Amino acid sequence: MTLRDSFGRQITDLRISVTDRCNFRCVYCRSADPENYRGHDEILSWPELDRLARIFLGLGIRKIRVTGGEPLVRDGVEEFISRLHALGFPDLSMTTNGHLLAERSNRLLAAGLGRINISLDSLDPAKFERITRTQSFSKVMYGIDAVQNSRLAPAKLNAVLVRGLNDNEVEAFAQFARDRGVIMRFIEFMPLDADRHWSRDLVVPAAEVHDRIHKRWPLVQVPHERSETARKYRFADGAPGEIGLIASVTQPFCGFCSRIRVTADGKLRTCLFSKEDHDLRFLLRDGASDDDLVAYIRSVVNEKEEGHRINEPGFVPPSRTMVFIGG
Ligand code: GTP
Ligand code: 5AD
Ligand code: SF4
Repeated sequence: MTLRDSFGRQITDLRISVTDRCNFRCVYCRSADPENYRGHDEILSWPELDRLARIFLGLGIRKIRVTGGEPLVRDGVEEFISRLHALGFPDLSMTTNGHLLAERSNRLLAAGLGRINISLDSLDPAKFERITRTQSFSKVMYGIDAVQNSRLAPAKLNAVLVRGLNDNEVEAFAQFARDRGVIMRFIEFMPLDADRHWSRDLVVPAAEVHDRIHKRWPLVQVPHERSETARKYRFADGAPGEIGLIASVTQPFCGFCSRIRVTADGKLRTCLFSKEDHDLRFLLRDGASDDDLVAYIRSVVNEKEEGHRINEPGFVPPSRTMVFIGG
């Protein structure tokens, strides 16, 4: 009983956000101003999240990724991971900013987490502070070390490149991948920032990143799954580490999209750029049966949009920004 949309894409990946709160304020995501977090009763409870996870597994979701805000700021996330593990999702992962990772990685491992992606937007502590508006550089580095010393290695690191801010670090990041044997991924900046500063000039095209690294250390493409966000490369000279390029803006991969999202406040989103979201929380709290929920999810997925329209004239960014979507 799999989920399929009207374009014939099979939906096998769910990104489930457990909180809209975050202990960072990255410039490409959140505003510097205090944000209006949702009230506790607006956020799905653990039993509500458990129920949805079980229903989605029955609908053919195979990859489940726990996101935020920052997922590690919500108490009980390890227990949630262990219940997802017990349910039997074949691919169970998390995306985190790494701030709390050093002290939590053992518990996450014990809970059955299979993979982890960590944001790392600069290798320069002062710039890291400017981008994240925190002084957490060394904590994140310790978190990365903890992952590198565990069965979750190699760490998968995400850098959102913003022109004029951290694009001078491409080669340094590649060097870091070689030295440390990590997977370093470069992400094109998307129009999902709270400050609405996004403009096309701020996007660093993946092709440029490829050419710069390739000039210094020739790259060889490695196969990727069709629905994966990143194009993957290894170093031709056999050095450890891997490079990933996520070209959401310049080379959209929507045609192969297999993803849907549930936000922390219980809305189903069929695309990062959806104009509207769909209220699962209301149904959960209004006595809907599992069959009702299944029917609703199927009908929403059937309406999944063909793709984002960032490159079309008249594009309007969604009103929900990244921190409220869950990455
Ligand atoms: P893997 O399963 O490890 O390949 O993870 P992932 O790349 O799907 O997840 P991650 O949370 O690390 O996402 C990395 C970046 O990919 C995000 O920060 C987004 O910029 C981008 N991304 C993730 N999902 C989508 C999506 O559905 N559409 C688009 N356009 N970009 C996405
Ligand atoms: N464009 C691209 N990626 C973004 N992320 C947050 N905001 C943006 C944006 N505007 C990424 C983070 C992290 C994931 C949760 O979302 O870097 O990898
Ligand atoms: Fe899928 Fe929408 Fe992301 Fe495109 S922008 S890959 S359709 S979620």
